[in-house]
Amino acid sequence: MSCKGKCSCRKPSKKKAIITGITGQDGSHLADLLLYLNYEVVGVVRRSSTDTTQRIKHLLGNKNLKLVEGDITDYSSIFNVLKENQDACEFYNLAAQSHVAASFKNPEATWDATCKGCFNVLRAIVDLDLQNRIRFYQASSSEMFGKSYDEDGYAKYQDEKTKFLPQSPYAIAKCAAHEAVRLYRDAYGLHASAGILFNHEGPRRGEQFVTRKITKWIGKFNKFLKRNNILPKDITKSCLDKDCDMIFASGIQESFPKLRLGNIDAYRDWGYAGDYVKAMWLMLQQNRGDDYVICTGESHSIREFLEEAFKCIEISDWYNYIIQDPQFYRPAEVDYLRGKNFKAGSKLKWKPETTFKQLVTMMVEHDIKNS
Ligand code: NAP
Ligand code: GDD
Repeated sequence: MSCKGKCSCRKPSKKKAIITGITGQDGSHLADLLLYLNYEVVGVVRRSSTDTTQRIKHLLGNKNLKLVEGDITDYSSIFNVLKENQDACEFYNLAAQSHVAASFKNPEATWDATCKGCFNVLRAIVDLDLQNRIRFYQASSSEMFGKSYDEDGYAKYQDEKTKFLPQSPYAIAKCAAHEAVRLYRDAYGLHASAGILFNHEGPRRGEQFVTRKITKWIGKFNKFLKRNNILPKDITKSCLDKDCDMIFASGIQESFPKLRLGNIDAYRDWGYAGDYVKAMWLMLQQNRGDDYVICTGESHSIREFLEEAFKCIEISDWYNYIIQDPQFYRPAEVDYLRGKNFKAGSKLKWKPETTFKQLVTMMVEHDIKNS
């Protein structure tokens, strides 16, 4: 992929990219990819009283990685990061308050990080007159579709033409940021792309998202089985009673809490985060900025995820091990997401490389190994 842009860094010398959200799941995978591609990476990290660099621990000694302090909600800190790195040719805005359920409890903080943060970057780019020198990526989301879908006679789907009908403060903030990207592309000629990414997961996924919550629980439960030298068949039916929230096995003292979940009937188009960051990078290598849906094209319910995940520890009656807890239901739900990645396939030549089964197995195996 050759660089045909006007920016000075599109010469043979090393390219520099700025990533906000580098300590998150996607930021860490993107940093892996860009460093592998021989970029200099500037990661924006917000100040914290605890260490947030767990996911990029393996990269901390890399001489091409520099971490700088900055908060996406604070215009001046983003302005300064850009001012000090005006030779950067790519800016990936991945920072956000990304938990949908949390956004109902903290709508303003979600708005600030998820929408205002995007505006702060766009504004700083223009204020520093960098719009012809830097390419911008915004982490848009399939959550923006909410309850909206199109139908192709065979099944429901969402693609770049599907209208948005957001169902959470998070999704509303993402929609506004998405529109801001379009505006800056049109108004200032900025090479700006928005990746409308469907859910993507992996061993680095935050532990409060449903997939990782399930695989983490399985990892710990498997450890409980091993510690007590018992097999799933030793767990008696009566102990798996619907009204009981603990799991017991005959002949042992220790018990284990059941997995507490909310709505398990929602469907998601789940892919692997390591595959999806390649699409982010590809978007910024195109001649023009644009919007792209990134997904697998397959949709599975949380029930199906549970089925597949519990299979890894040879349990088929997974429904006996969970409790549906009202505290994990949301005031509004997104029931069905299934993307169509035709545009990403034809223009970016991108396609997902990891199947649903491989993804679930990878996550369960990781959490079994690390529990
Ligand atoms: P994540 O693991 O929750 O990471 C979010 C990142 O944003 C973290 O590095 C976090 O830093 C940072 N951040 C939050 N508030 C900040 C602030 N005020 N200033 C600076 N940094 C801040 O999310 P992810 O799964 O990697 O997702 C990356 C992006 O893609 C997000 O924008 C998300 O909304 C979007 N997205 C994700 C998916 C998905 O399925 N994963 C799908 C579509 C879109 P700390 O470490 O300090 O908390
Ligand atoms: N988190 C969570 N915890 N979700 C649960 C639980 C639970 O205990 N029980 C059921 N669910 C259901 C949710 O109600 C939702 O329907 C589904 O599981 C997925 O929830 P999450 O894993 O939290 O992901 P999300 O789809 O809401 O949001 C993720 O994907 C978006 C892209 O569509 C996040 O990564 C967003 O940042 C991203 O934009």
